[in-house]
Amino acid sequence: RPRVLSGIQPTAGSFHLGNYLGAVRQWVALQETHDAFYMVVDLHAITIPQDPEELRANTRLAAAQLLAAGLDPDRCTLFVQSHVPEHAQLAWVMNCLTGFGEASRMTQFKDKSAKQGADRASVGLFTYPVLQVADILLYQANEVPVGEDQRQHIELTRDLAERFNGRFGATFTVPKPYILKETAKIYDLQDPAIKMSKSASTPKGLINLLDEPKATAKKVKSAVTDTDTVIRYDVVEKPGVSNLLTIYSTLTGADIPELEQKYAGKGYGALKTDLAEVMVEFVTPFRERTQQYLDDPETLDSILAKGAEKARAVAAETLSQAYERVGFLPAK
Ligand code: TYM
Repeated sequence: RPRVLSGIQPTAGSFHLGNYLGAVRQWVALQETHDAFYMVVDLHAITIPQDPEELRANTRLAAAQLLAAGLDPDRCTLFVQSHVPEHAQLAWVMNCLTGFGEASRMTQFKDKSAKQGADRASVGLFTYPVLQVADILLYQANEVPVGEDQRQHIELTRDLAERFNGRFGATFTVPKPYILKETAKIYDLQDPAIKMSKSASTPKGLINLLDEPKATAKKVKSAVTDTDTVIRYDVVEKPGVSNLLTIYSTLTGADIPELEQKYAGKGYGALKTDLAEVMVEFVTPFRERTQQYLDDPETLDSILAKGAEKARAVAAETLSQAYERVGFLPAK
């Protein structure tokens, strides 16, 4: 079985619809066909200032949401990044292979550091993509299921894997991004020119999966469309409507031409009312299941402990090979 690996940050608490449709939904599908490793990336979460208790709670909350979304600990390896020390260890090696200019070109860093101001952005935020490289290479992943915003980090992973292999001999699998075209970028409901995100979206443009379903329905009903009334998929002329159609189609399995036909001659109101209902039907059981996992922290922690053990077995083997290749003296 080919291997996949991916990660999600626990920082924000609730996952948003972009996280789910762009990534987590694919994770659930891929556990059936791939040897799948998924993690909550708490090391990445401290690249911006964090509250310790909140981070701990949000790490459990992220794991609970992943299980609620359909990850099955019998079909995949689910773990917390800091439980596997090899991530930080390989990241150091990779940092030493990364050019300063190369790291400076990472657009996510540029965006985030611009927001914080150069003096307040940490060195950890700067090398964040290199930690992500280590995350992926440790597991010899063939594919990495993510949204479009992570593509550049996967490119960096490929470059560094090839560089390491070229310099020290074949060690790492060179991974490919696994990005579904339809859901690669879910847009803000109030501003379809920007992606839905915790940091850039206004509350009305952002669908948090754990929000009150009623509030979610309201946000869908007040989504920005355009002054026309025709329901047609056209990302250039009708980005708002197209985003709603993408969401609707992915959550229900109806394809887009089918939806265009269903709403021919009807206004945006009908589409939004129906999509609001679809969304409520999706988030209501999702919230319930998440709460059930949170109510039983022992079970949750034991799932994560088992996951960490499985992950560590793979990560330790890769790390020891990499250490040997770069010339470190074995410890015994
Ligand atoms: P994060 O936590 O920001 O996001 C988790 C996943 O959600 C996707 N995503 C979206 N997809 C479509 N439309 C959107 N509006 C949208 N917003 C977010 C992201 O692309 C991502 O797949 N650096 C990563 C976490 C990470 C990782 C890794 C991923 C750390 N190590 C190793 C893969 C492999 C991040 O911050 O994702």
